[in-house]
Formats: sequence, C-alpha cells, structure tokens
Amino acid sequence: MSSLSRRRFLITAGLPYSNGRLHVGHVAGAYLPADTFARYLRARGDEVLFVCGSDDNGVASLISARKEGRSVQELTAEYNQRQRSDFERLGIRFDVYGGTHQPEYVEMHEKISQEFFRVIHEHGHFVKRTTEQLYDVEAQQFLPDRFVKGTCYHTRENGSPCGYDGAYGDQCESCGNAIDPMLLVEPQSTITGSRPESRSTTHWYMKLGDFDQPLREWLTSNRTAGPDRPAWRDTVLNFALGQLQEGLPERPMTRDLDWGVPVPLDDPDAEGKVLYVWFDAPIGYVSFTATHCQRETGDWKNYERWWKDEDSRVVHFIGEDNTVFHALTWPAMILAEGSHRLPSQVVSNAFLNIKLAGGDETKIGKTKVAIWIEDYLKHFDADPLRYYLTAIAPETRRTAFDADDFVARNNGELLNALGNFINRTLTFTEKYFEGSVPEPGDRTEVDLEHLNRIGAHAERVTEQLEAFHFKAALEEVMALARASNGYLDTKQPWKQRKEDMAACGTTLNICLQTVKALATLMAPFLPAMSEKCGEMLKVQGFPWLEVGVELPPGHELGESGILVRKLEADEAGRL
Ligand code: MF3
Ligand code: ZN
Repeated sequence: MSSLSRRRFLITAGLPYSNGRLHVGHVAGAYLPADTFARYLRARGDEVLFVCGSDDNGVASLISARKEGRSVQELTAEYNQRQRSDFERLGIRFDVYGGTHQPEYVEMHEKISQEFFRVIHEHGHFVKRTTEQLYDVEAQQFLPDRFVKGTCYHTRENGSPCGYDGAYGDQCESCGNAIDPMLLVEPQSTITGSRPESRSTTHWYMKLGDFDQPLREWLTSNRTAGPDRPAWRDTVLNFALGQLQEGLPERPMTRDLDWGVPVPLDDPDAEGKVLYVWFDAPIGYVSFTATHCQRETGDWKNYERWWKDEDSRVVHFIGEDNTVFHALTWPAMILAEGSHRLPSQVVSNAFLNIKLAGGDETKIGKTKVAIWIEDYLKHFDADPLRYYLTAIAPETRRTAFDADDFVARNNGELLNALGNFINRTLTFTEKYFEGSVPEPGDRTEVDLEHLNRIGAHAERVTEQLEAFHFKAALEEVMALARASNGYLDTKQPWKQRKEDMAACGTTLNICLQTVKALATLMAPFLPAMSEKCGEMLKVQGFPWLEVGVELPPGHELGESGILVRKLEADEAGRL
C-alpha cells in the first residue's frame, strides 16, 4: 500500500437541531459515515479534526420550546447533552462537539458569524429590502421559516407539480426545494393555526446569483476526480447544477426573531433582528473549530490552518435534505466572504425508511415510526447497528432499516463470518498453542495465497474508503472474513494437529495474522469490536498502513472472549 504523505482533513457532519432525539436515519445519513471516514484517516496517520455540534438557533427550537412549555435555552441544552451522549455511546467520536447557542461556544460563534455577515455586506453581496411578510396577529409576530406551513408551489425535476401540503416556510421536505413563505398556497401559522396577514418589514437579502458562474464551474469540475479528491456523488451534483440552471435567487439572510445571532449592522432597521439560522449554522463548523483551537493551543486564530490553508481539505457529511445548503448556499457564502476554503467534498446520503418487525415499510417521522438511538441502546450494542447501517447505507438511493433483517444479518454475517473466524482462531490457539503466536514454519502455496489475499482486500478496502464508498468498503472486509473461514476449512487445523503440529502451527500463525488484519480493517466501521480484538491479541492500536505487518512468533495473546452476541429472532420486536 502506498504511503501518501500526511494529509490534513477537517471533517464535519451536519449539525443536528437540538430540539429532539436522534434516530437511526440521522446516524446512517451523516454521522456514521463521517465517523467511519475520520477513524480511517486517523488510523492511517492523517491529520484530522472531526467537528460537530448542535444547531440551536432558528425557528425549529423555538417551536419545540413553545410546545414543551420551557425556555429555548433549557431545551437546546438538554438535547445537546442527550445527542452528545448518543453519539458517544455509538462510538461516534468527534474532536469537538459544540452548539451554536451553548454557553461554551456561543460567544465565539456570534463573533465569527457576525464577522462573516459584515464582510459579505462590505463586499456588496447583500441588498436591503422592505417587503411584505406573513404576520400572525394573534401571536404578534412575523412568521419566518417553520412558523408557517402550507402547500408547496414547486415543480419537480420531472415537470409534475409537488403539491405537498405540509411544506414549511423554509424548505419543502417532499421535493427538497427552498420555500418563499409568501408563495405558499394556503399558508397557516404553526403557532396559532390562524391564517396570517401580510405586513412590511426590512431584511438583508443575499444576492446568491452573483455566484452562479463560479459555483457552476466549481461544481462541474467536481464531476471528475481531482488530484486530491475523488469525483463527487452524482446525486449532489445533479441537484445543485439543476438549481443553477434557473440561476440562484436573492435570499433573505435575516429574520424577525429574538433568538439567534444579532444582525451586526449599525442600522436602526437591524434592531430586533437575527441572522437566518441557515446563515449561522454552517459557520458553526468554523466557530467550533475556533473554540477547539482556543482550548487546545490558546489561540482561536489557529482555526485558519483548517479553514484557510491550501493544504487542508474540508469534507461535509450530510443528509440529502441539506444538499442545497452545503452545495450552493454555504459555498456562495464562502465565495462572498472570500477567505475560507470551499469544501473539497460534500457527501450526502438519502433518507432511510423503516420496516419494524411485522410491519410495513414507512418513512421515518418524528411522530410516526422511528428507531430512537436511546431506545436501541437499551437492548443492543453499538457495533451491530454500525454494521447494519453501513451494510444498507443509503448512499445512492433510499434504503430501508428492516428489523428482521437487522437480526438476520447480525447472526448470518457479523457473527457467522467475522465473529466466528476470530473466535475459532483464538480459542484454538489458546487450547493448543498456549495462547501465543506459533512459528510460521514452512508456508505452503495455500498459506501464501491467503496472505496475498489479505493484502489485496486491504487495498480494495482502502480504495473504497478513499472514494467514500463505505458500503462497498465494508463488503470487502466481510469478503475477507468469508475467505478466511474458507482458508480455515481447507487447512483443517483440527486434523493437522493430530498429524503434524508444525503444519498446524503454520495455519494458526496465518489465521492470527488474518485476525490482526481484520481488526485493522474493521476498526473504522466497528471500533468496539476492533478494540476487543486488540485486547485478545494484546496489540495496542492498529495502524492502517501496518495491516500487513505480522505478529511475531511467540507473541503472547490475551484471553479470548465473545465478540458478537447472537440475537434471538424475537429481539427484532425490541426495535
Ligand atoms: N440542523 C440542520 C438539519 O438538521 C443541519 C444544519 S447543517 C449546518 O437539517 F451546516 F447548517 F450546520
Ligand atoms: Zn415541494
């Protein structure tokens, strides 16, 4: 495997709104592939900063706080904590987990967000406009974003009208398009349910169209692989370039709300106004990096080595509903501000459907079906979920989490192929070789062939990971596990033991090298299992580029133990 020089990656996963719990769809869409990638890079020795945190500002949290009858500060603090703990227990390990309105982060976040706004303003990409907006007389407030819903007025890519009747004033969850609330058919206040009237108010609109041309060129160049990144996914490019065909519109980047980042202009019209949440949220990636640098190095300005240096690559992992913001709006903001780097990659996944035991396949919804991470973790370990969500990853299209299939694949793949090979190898060594690595002895062609196979699979796992094909990468790991069981069955060490102990030792030596290789290659996907392998092999850490470095003969092993729990068929009902 070629050892490239040390690269630098700033990795982000979409900031979750801190107004609810996390479900399997969130994890499959953004956090798990991001964590898998970050772990892979760390293992190969690249410089990595994995950044996330909660999206606290905006209307979504205000609505939830109102519903739950408590302050938005308290609500977002609670969900920030709960989500943080879900991630931790799933082995999703951020280097920093902030929150755009959390006490330790809010000051830096306001400073950097306001600076972005001011610079873009100075560069002339805002226009101040006074327009009619929806106003709820009963609630005595304007109704930006999710404070209003109605029927979508957009046309789909295939020319048919969307017509979705639950479209919010920020974005239609059915067709994915951005919404101008004034154009919603039959608008309705989500605060009081009343029909809003229109009143005039002043806002700052960003002229996104100023960037149509550079965005089009940049996105088109991402169709093919660059020197330091693979081609982008077609799903992202087709959507973004499709939007650019019509040209990007002006979008208001300020709101009439009292929760968020105050508009930093010396202008009486700015009073009582905050930045649009989709303006400040992606800046959260930057501000959390800065807070982290302040903490680690004593100088927040060091964030620039991640966000401004030419050597650094920024990779965003997101769910498909975030595509418009990460592939168009946020890049336009970066171009307008002028000093930060455009993302090297935007990796977006489709949604996940759910099929509970004995039920039909449905979409995940807050009030409808969902598999909540907190609930899942009451009954199951993290790695089986990580395994399943990667095995069915919705990388190119919607896929379904099927509860029965989850159990079947845990037993049939994770346990039968991977767990059993490792277990068979370690218990056999414990029993007949006093728990230490036997001499390699005389390796036959079959043995050497298997060693070569490890190398070939490792190459392919690496290639797939570099291309952001996580599902295919995991399939390669599993193919190696199956081939390893095949090797064991061909060599039959339980027979060799009785005829030729040295030959038996050669087999087990190879099997142990394979276990080490598997532990290395599974680590980004199944970190807890890999760590357990580390304990059983008495090996600390599995550097990626040392996947082929062999355990020396005589190396003492730890105690073997169960790696994967067999699930009973009826446990699907616990999901
Ligand atoms: N909170 C948004 C969502 O859950 C994602 C924000 S991503 C960011 O859809 F880039 F804006 F931070
Ligand atoms: Zn729509």
